[in-house]
Amino acid sequence: VIGHHRLFVPAVLRVSALALILGLAIASPLFAQQNPGKILGPDSCKDCHKQAAAVWDHTRHALSRDVLAKPEAQRIKTAKAIKTDADESEACTSCHGTPKLDGKKIKLVAGVSCESCHGAATEWIKVHSNFGSGKTAATEAPEHRDERLGASMAAGLLRPSNIYRVVQNCLQCHTAPDEEMVNAGGHSAGSAFEVVAWSQGMIRHNYGPDGQNREASVERRRQLYVVGQIAELEFALRRLATATADGTYSQALIKRAQEATSALKKIEAAAKVPELTAILKAAASAKLATDVAGRPALLAAAETISGAGQDFVDLGYAKELAGIDAMLPSPENYKGTPYRQ
Ligand code: HEC
Ligand code: HEC
Ligand code: HEC
Ligand code: HEC
Repeated sequence: VIGHHRLFVPAVLRVSALALILGLAIASPLFAQQNPGKILGPDSCKDCHKQAAAVWDHTRHALSRDVLAKPEAQRIKTAKAIKTDADESEACTSCHGTPKLDGKKIKLVAGVSCESCHGAATEWIKVHSNFGSGKTAATEAPEHRDERLGASMAAGLLRPSNIYRVVQNCLQCHTAPDEEMVNAGGHSAGSAFEVVAWSQGMIRHNYGPDGQNREASVERRRQLYVVGQIAELEFALRRLATATADGTYSQALIKRAQEATSALKKIEAAAKVPELTAILKAAASAKLATDVAGRPALLAAAETISGAGQDFVDLGYAKELAGIDAMLPSPENYKGTPYRQ
């Protein structure tokens, strides 16, 4: 284990302490673009992040609002009794684009874009790239850097290094939260999502000083893979707790939970990591079914798994995960082709 043992506080304590201080119920997992009042839109990023913007232009995300005009969208709308255009209904815009508050109305300013994954930017855009007067990235003082990144995160920047949160955020959109939309409307019950394959193909933007769009290192891919399975299980349980009947929606979620559990068992066998044992124990305590009486157990398990997933990232496992390399998807299986300039 590398990293900061001493600063480490178990998630259970962190969450309950925060809930006590703020007097809040345990917060739902983060959704980066949930604050339409603080969205700027991708044009605000393009001047400084030309390469990321060029990649994004070539992804399905850039076109994700256009699919709302497809004929299939009508059936989904009818099932949900949505009368407005799909690209004006929050039931669709929350995942198919970047919703921005414009006066009193929420309007889509783009498909799924920068702030959908990095957080609504009004309050962090200035500070995140301010190295201090007369300083550059190379000459910035380390304390200034910590302060800059700390302030940016506090203002809502979702950093790529915060892997558990990043992956939770993908799953906010890539698992459907709405039974009616799926069972009656025929909307996809969620993507066949695996985070390494889905992040290292068409959407990849990871530019080094050499100007190359690099594949994530093997250490990061191991972490992404494990985190992907943990978050997958968390979201399958969380969504299943909203199911009311046996149908496409509940069946897809039960299958997702079972597949993530079996992947996590394989990982546990190849890498002795205590968080995985805790996660599997939590999952075993909830019944994969749609009865209302079972919901609290599903949600409690999802909370425990979420905390353990964040702990797993905070503890910075690296060498411990070397045994899982055979499980990592290979480049032929990446979703789409990485963009090269
Ligand atoms: C004025 C130029 C500028 C603008 C505008 C800008 N950025 Fe940045 N951004 C930077 C610089 C410079 C860095 C590198 C900071 C560093 O080296 O730590 C950066 C870093 C980042 C990072 C990586 C942070 C990390 O964890 O290391 C992300 C993500 C990011 N920007 C997203 C965005 C998004 C999204 C927008 C638009 C809403 C945006 N930026 C607008 C200059 C800018
Ligand atoms: C929770 C996020 C979420 C919500 C809410 C959502 N969608 Fe989707 N939708 C997706 C994802 C993700 C896909 C891609 C599915 C896949 O990978 O299987 C998709 C796919 C689609 C497709 C098929 C796209 C294609 O390329 O053929 C249509 C049509 C669609 N959605 C319409 C809608 C409509 C209409 C609404 C509102 C009633 C809506 N969606 C709400 C996430 C969402
Ligand atoms: C679908 C989610 C998603 C979208 C959309 C997205 N990013 Fe990212 N971004 C990520 C992830 C994940 C990483 C980490 C890359 C990795 O590890 O492969 C990242 C990394 C970055 C970085 C640091 C790496 C580098 O190349 O400098 C910057 C800067 C950045 N994104 C800016 C942007 C900007 C600007 C946009 C819009 C034009 C954007 N991102 C759109 C998810 C996204
Ligand atoms: C705000 C919602 C949202 C977020 C966040 C999001 N996606 Fe998506 N993503 C979508 C929608 C909607 C589609 C489907 C677009 C379409 O049908 O054309 C999609 C499509 C994709 C595709 C193309 C799939 C295909 O079949 O070709 C990839 C790859 C992808 N997403 C990866 C990611 C990853 C990785 C993350 C997190 C780093 C992420 N997405 C975060 C909504 C989102």
